[in-house]
Amino acid sequence: MTSNICLHMLFYYIISLHIVSTLAHSDNYIIHMNLSAMPTIFLNQHSWYESTLSQVTPTNNNFKSTSSKIIYTYNNVMNGFSANLSPEEHEALKISPGYISSIPDLSLKLDTTHSPKFLGLNPYKGAWPASDFGKDVIVGVIDTGVWPESESFNDKGMTKMPSNWKGQLCQFENTNNSSLCNKKLIGARYFNKGFLAKYPNISRTIVNTTRDTSGHGTHTSSIAAGSRVDGASFFGFTNGTAMGIASLSRVAMYKAVWGPNEDMVVSDIIAAIDTAISDGVDVLSMSFSYDNVPLYKDGIAIATFAAMEKGIFVSASAGNDGPSFNTMKSNGIPWETIVAASTLDREFHGNLTLGNGVSVTGFSIYPGKFSTSNFRIVFMGMCDNVKKLIKVKSNIVVCEFNNGTFDNLVKPIQNLIAAKVVGSVLITNTLQIDEFSLSSAIPFPSIIINPKNGEIVKDFIKRTSYSSSIAKMSFKITSFDVRPAPSVDIYSSRGPSKNCPYVLKPDITGPGTSILAAWPTNIPVFDFVSYKFFNKFNIASGTSMSCPHIAGVAALLKGAHGDWSPAAIRSAIMTTSDIFDNTKEHITDIGTGNKATPLALGAGHVNPNRALDPGLIYDAGVQDYVNLLCALNYTQKNIIAITKSSVNDCSKPSLDLNYPSFIAFFNAGNSSKTTQHFHRTVTNVGEGQTTYVASITPIKRFRINVIPNKLVFKKKNQKISYKLSIEGPKMIQKNKVSFGYLTWKDDKHVVRSPIVVTTPSFNL
Ligand SMILES: *[C@@H]1O[C@H](CO)[C@@H](O)[C@H](O)[C@H]1NC(C)=O
Ligand SMILES: *[C@@H]1O[C@H](CO)[C@@H](O)[C@H](O)[C@H]1NC(C)=O
Ligand SMILES: *[C@@H]1O[C@H](CO)[C@@H](O)[C@H](O)[C@H]1NC(C)=O
Ligand SMILES: *[C@@H]1O[C@H](CO)[C@@H](O)[C@H](O)[C@H]1NC(C)=O
Ligand SMILES: *[C@@H]1O[C@H](CO)[C@@H](O)[C@H](O)[C@H]1NC(C)=O
Ligand SMILES: *[C@@H]1O[C@H](CO)[C@@H](O)[C@H](O)[C@H]1NC(C)=O
Ligand SMILES: *[C@@H]1O[C@H](CO)[C@@H](O)[C@H](O)[C@H]1NC(C)=O
Ligand SMILES: *[C@@H]1O[C@H](CO)[C@@H](O)[C@H](O)[C@H]1NC(C)=O
Ligand SMILES: *[C@@H]1O[C@H](CO)[C@@H](O)[C@H](O)[C@H]1NC(C)=O
Ligand SMILES: *[C@@H]1O[C@H](CO)[C@@H](O)[C@H](O)[C@H]1NC(C)=O
Repeated sequence: MTSNICLHMLFYYIISLHIVSTLAHSDNYIIHMNLSAMPTIFLNQHSWYESTLSQVTPTNNNFKSTSSKIIYTYNNVMNGFSANLSPEEHEALKISPGYISSIPDLSLKLDTTHSPKFLGLNPYKGAWPASDFGKDVIVGVIDTGVWPESESFNDKGMTKMPSNWKGQLCQFENTNNSSLCNKKLIGARYFNKGFLAKYPNISRTIVNTTRDTSGHGTHTSSIAAGSRVDGASFFGFTNGTAMGIASLSRVAMYKAVWGPNEDMVVSDIIAAIDTAISDGVDVLSMSFSYDNVPLYKDGIAIATFAAMEKGIFVSASAGNDGPSFNTMKSNGIPWETIVAASTLDREFHGNLTLGNGVSVTGFSIYPGKFSTSNFRIVFMGMCDNVKKLIKVKSNIVVCEFNNGTFDNLVKPIQNLIAAKVVGSVLITNTLQIDEFSLSSAIPFPSIIINPKNGEIVKDFIKRTSYSSSIAKMSFKITSFDVRPAPSVDIYSSRGPSKNCPYVLKPDITGPGTSILAAWPTNIPVFDFVSYKFFNKFNIASGTSMSCPHIAGVAALLKGAHGDWSPAAIRSAIMTTSDIFDNTKEHITDIGTGNKATPLALGAGHVNPNRALDPGLIYDAGVQDYVNLLCALNYTQKNIIAITKSSVNDCSKPSLDLNYPSFIAFFNAGNSSKTTQHFHRTVTNVGEGQTTYVASITPIKRFRINVIPNKLVFKKKNQKISYKLSIEGPKMIQKNKVSFGYLTWKDDKHVVRSPIVVTTPSFNL
């Protein structure tokens, strides 16, 4: 799993297999070239690249076969191309005129009726009407494709195409010009040349289409910008109106995930971003990641830098590798917005009613009948013995899985399936376990309960005579206003990021657990061995689902504030977010049971209505990011790989990016640094004259100072700088995470930034 890009949806773990490259001797590379070095005899970049390649292919000087080595020519994200090369060809290319650098074509893995309402979105006030529901904003989604017939892509009420849309193609089922696009789904492109070059064996099974072959992309794109659909339901659990966050924004799908195992390679994703830039998207949503690589070797970081320069907001998922500290992989990119995942205040339940009338409640999304009749109930310990299970198969079987991980639950569930039991009750403390994945893998009536309820059930079985130990199960119980909510869910990856720990990541949390959204009608939502269930909507969980929520919110902000930069939109989303849940307590981390630190929660839980009017913003542009790259001690060559600009001003290197959050590292046991300083500049985007006053939520054993602690603005768009310093004790416990907040307030706005103090998990 480790070398793959991952789609951040949880039940993908059930089917994760591997593709091994057949051509160990040749591989795909992404080559960055210097366009200024192109001899004038060439008509265009492509012919120059072809000629360059023909020079380095000794056994194959024939022009035709070398030109076919070019997979893509890139124009926007960089000047360069990708090609399938032998190690010798790759080496020879490095001394060709105009060669700048190359990176390997790594693989990646892919990591609502209710969520808009939970976020406080309201048709009559706030971000929805202010942005006209994101009208005319274009959200590009790079994913597994889309099911264009889904009602979530109907274009009722959509006005004419936005004028900045330059996309031409609507590629479904081998045609470039399909009538399946409309004023909602305005573009559909696929990118598989890199994948086919890397995995030639798979090509036979690939259809050249943007049609979703997995469900993931239909789900994510409808979360961000799906149209309003009345009467959406999921097997009677939830009925209502399904609606994307920015329901009048347009969707452009870029399919880059292929094959039975949902594989994707960087060269295809870069091509998708390259095309999305020329097509004119405003926002990009990318729910996937791969292993940690330095920013200058990360093709996605390189491509999204170009997107940021063009003013495109990029939302990316944090990953599903939580709950431990430091589990974010590649997604620490400073110019993207990185999204953690939380629970909603809605849960799907099943009840077990024991013979004595006591009922215990647990998690279940069993899609079959509403209830069972009474059956005998038996406790079978760990359910590790199929032979014993077969003997009790006409009973409701109770099994215990404490401290189980999803992987070591597979065997007991297979045992229950093999024994064909009538029903099961699974007792687990669920740490590390995603209930949805579990429940959707169990083809018989089943309820997942916690150890406390488990004791009630076990006690009943122990104390009751054989003949009266009966129970029945009921399903499809949807609970609303669950408290506390939101909470950061277990699976969401935690910071600090590895590729740039000096910028606090993740940035923000959005709903990720049990999200209902559109689904292809030919892909089962439950795929049990003996029968399948299909539905137009499906429930899924993961940071894959929280990422498009933030893309949708960014589309609303872009609709309301067309001139805001990606950093300004991110700042507005971060500084106005919520840190309290629906019980008015600090949001909980389900992984620890304690307060969620900003390494789990980011700045907080998104609040779209407040983000509309943030008061102050922390802006950042290209030179700010260059200053950061310089301070990371990257060489000019490394920096050029990212910025594509041959002149990068490193006269003011600084790890201190103008960012709406703070992270300070203190060395455990050593007093090398006792005071750390941060400099920030805020822009007044509120109306005219105002005065902001700072307040600090203190961090025990640290002294935090803000100078000045009062910011007096005379007019709109005025910028004022301040300095924050954190004085630390000589000793700090290793891996301890402490946090507080800096809040600027005027009489209308609250502008809050998290401050994290911890020890480095890398060499300072
Ligand atoms: C579709 O468009 C692509 C990109 O412009 C082009 O390479 C391809 O040949 C076209 N295919 C068809 C069937 O027209
Ligand atoms: C797509 O094809 C149809 C039928 O061949 C044609 O009428 C239409 O003009 C084409 N559209 C574009 C955008 O090429
Ligand atoms: C799909 O497109 C690729 C190029 O992207 C081409 O090599 C392949 O032959 C096409 N497959 C089919 C079935 O048309
Ligand atoms: C690729 O195809 C060949 C021939 O069909 C087969 O022998 C080989 O095992 C395949 N490799 C993979 C990784 O599937
Ligand atoms: C949803 O609708 C179905 C069919 O009309 C109904 O049976 C079910 O009780 C409803 N569920 C909820 C939660 O309202
Ligand atoms: C489910 O059980 C809980 C008690 O655990 C009870 O409060 C609730 O009313 C039950 N719901 C239904 C629909 O039976
Ligand atoms: C589960 O793990 C916790 C913490 O690691 C431990 O205290 C507990 O004994 C474990 N329980 C079981 C049933 O293994
Ligand atoms: C960069 O190099 C300087 C000088 O060697 C060093 O002080 C600094 O800590 C390095 N920065 C990083 C981020 O490694
Ligand atoms: C690109 O080529 C131009 C002209 O040959 C040269 O001045 C420039 O330094 C080169 N840039 C890089 C990044 O190598
Ligand atoms: C503290 O510093 C000393 C000397 O500079 C070094 O030997 C030791 O490893 C450091 N300890 C930690 C925990 O960094």
